[in-house]
Parts: sequence; C-alpha cells; structure tokens
Amino acid sequence: MDVYEAIVGRRTIRQFDPKPIPRGILEKIANAARLAPSAANLQPLEYVAVDDAAIRTKIFPCLKWAAAISPLGNPRPGHEPTAYVFVLVNTLVRDKMYEYDAGAAIENMALAAWGEGIASCWLVSIDKPRIVELLGIPETRRLDSVLALGYPGQVSVVETMSEERKKYWQDSDLMFHVPKRGLTEILHFNKF
Ligand SMILES: Cc1cc2nc3c(=O)[nH]c(=O)nc-3n(C[C@H](O)[C@H](O)[C@H](O)COP(=O)(O)O)c2cc1C
Repeated sequence: MDVYEAIVGRRTIRQFDPKPIPRGILEKIANAARLAPSAANLQPLEYVAVDDAAIRTKIFPCLKWAAAISPLGNPRPGHEPTAYVFVLVNTLVRDKMYEYDAGAAIENMALAAWGEGIASCWLVSIDKPRIVELLGIPETRRLDSVLALGYPGQVSVVETMSEERKKYWQDSDLMFHVPKRGLTEILHFNKF
C-alpha cells in the first residue's frame, strides 16, 4: 500500500476482529509515533501499549465511542479492540503546546497500522483518572488520548457532505458512513 492509498483508505473503525495483533506490529506502530515531527524536536511524548486481555477488559468501560450516535457505535461484545496505545505527555519536558506533536504521532500510528491491515479509532473521550490509575501513570506524565487498534470488523466509507448530511451514521449492516467536505469547498489556489 503506498502512502496516499493508506491516507485515503484509513477510516475510523469501531468494530474489530478478535484476531490478536503481533507484538512486532505493535512495536512498528509505536515506532511510527516515535519518528513523527516534534515542535523544537523536544519529543515530550511517551506511550503505553496494552495488549493484555485482562487489562483490556478493565480499559474498555473507560472509553466513549461515536458520541454522535451513542450507543449504536459501541464495539459489540466480541468486537472490542485487541490493543491500545495510550499517548502520554512528559510534562517535565513540555507542559503546553504538545497537541501538534500528539496529533502528528497519532496519525502516524493510525497510518502505519492501516498499512499493516489494522484499523484504529483515536479516542479523546476517555475516563482519564481511571485509566491513569489502571496503568499506574506517574504524576509527571499527562494522559492525552488513546489509539484503539484491531483488525477491522466493519467497513467505513466516505460520503459527500451536504446540508442534510453532516453527521456520520451507521447502517443496519454496521457499515459506517462519514461525510467529508468536498475539495473545491476547502481548497483555494493563490487567493482565498
Ligand atoms: C481529536 C480526535 C478525537 C476523537 N475522539 C473520539 C472519541 O472519543 N470517540 C470516538 O469514537 N471517536 C473519536 N474520534 C474519531 C472521529 O469521530 C473520526 O475521526 C471522525 O468521525 C472522522 O472519521 P474518519 O476518521 O473515518 O475520517 C476522534 C477523532 C479525533 C481527530
């Protein structure tokens, strides 16, 4: 898969296949985050990857899925993520303006994962205090967000956004539909 194909084909997925993700692939995904651009090259981000089944079971209730259609977008029983990568900020290195770094690192991970046939969902709506406790995250590390991962168990397609169709939806076959603004609406050449 070339890079553009990965970018265009990646969609947020919230139903996963139970097949486990090999450790080596999780390491490859985290390595894609490690090499992401970083403002002033300060590299404040660190990661906790979770693949242990018992820990995953405790993590799952801390996550809020597809708020706009909740609870329809929740992973069904047996279709939960098979791994997570939690993104932490070392606040001793940087206490603010780390969000650009986090966005670049997380998108790198999502694309590296998709290149391996692994789908993902980036979640910011998470119960941070509970996850901090569960994962033993120290006070010097701020939990930013998580990338939930797993082999895809649903299909998601891009739709043309219109006045009537702005929000994503899921149909009865669990196919997800994501409206996106058209290119001519958002791209201006040489002058706005
Ligand atoms: C910063 C950020 C936070 C997000 N938080 C959540 C979340 O908490 N729960 C969730 O189910 N999806 C979350 N998403 C996924 C978005 O809903 C999804 O990216 C959007 O609907 C577009 O779909 P696409 O990723 O397939 O293009 C988040 C995405 C971003 C960029």
